[in-house]
Amino acid sequence: MASVSKKTLLKIDGIDVSYGSINALKNVSMSVDEGSIVALIGANGAGKSTLLKAIVGQEPLVSGSIEYDGEVLYSVSGSSNGFGGGGRCHGVPTYDVVKKGIALVPEGRRVFADLTVEENLDMGAFMLKDEALVKRKKEEMFDFFPILGERRRQKSRSLSGGEQQMLAVARALMVSPRLLLLDEPGLGLAPLIVHEIFSKLRHINREDKVTVFVVEQNARLALKSSDDGYVMENGSIVLHDKASALLENEKVRAAYLGE
Ligand SMILES: Nc1ncnc2c1ncn2[C@@H]1O[C@H](COP(=O)(O)OP(=O)(O)O)[C@@H](O)[C@H]1O
Ligand SMILES: [Mg+2]
Repeated sequence: MASVSKKTLLKIDGIDVSYGSINALKNVSMSVDEGSIVALIGANGAGKSTLLKAIVGQEPLVSGSIEYDGEVLYSVSGSSNGFGGGGRCHGVPTYDVVKKGIALVPEGRRVFADLTVEENLDMGAFMLKDEALVKRKKEEMFDFFPILGERRRQKSRSLSGGEQQMLAVARALMVSPRLLLLDEPGLGLAPLIVHEIFSKLRHINREDKVTVFVVEQNARLALKSSDDGYVMENGSIVLHDKASALLENEKVRAAYLGE
């Protein structure tokens, strides 16, 4: 088989992110190849959500840079400017990040409870001006998540946790992202539902060529579904390898796989 040359879609280089005096991310570097699924695992408070927020511009960098598709999204260089470290910050607002093809499914789902399933999808498509396209994308989502199609006119609050998570994923997919970021999609859901979500993610990755970067507590399932994996502890990346290798790693098995 011919070897496929990999292109780096997301490249994070030596970033630091702080909340006041808390250094949530310390010199974090990592990359995501186009077309791959990459898992990030780590305990509560490790800094996983902060990393996803930094990628979409919701948390500013203290130092380092983030590149997407060969373009610098954010870069902080130079010496301290007297405002708590860091130098010049070049960044793009979250809205533009979405336009560039990055979509985040945030922690805790956060669907609009008082809106119907369909209205939630419309919200996901807020930046698409083409009504026919929005309609087509919605039908695509209803085909892909039939339960959402059946419930399209119901308020989201009436959905189960698993269905709300599917809706959160569908809402993110409305803009046809190239890079889909997910923050603990399985949190609080039954194992069967979490498996279903990951099977959907693998499908989206394989069929629609969407690159996936997923933070997940269910380390075994996340690594089994992924090409590459990173392990974060206390704001630093402590391990990076092929996901299959991490599944065999003694340290990962002891700390994250309960073995
Ligand atoms: N808005 C915030 N203000 C202050 N500290 C925060 C905030 N968000 C996260 N933190 C702290 O930053 C660290 C990393 O948090 P987070 O990125 O949410 O970790 P994870 O997603 O891995 O559980 C933790 O110590 C957390 O308490
Ligand atoms: Mg988190």
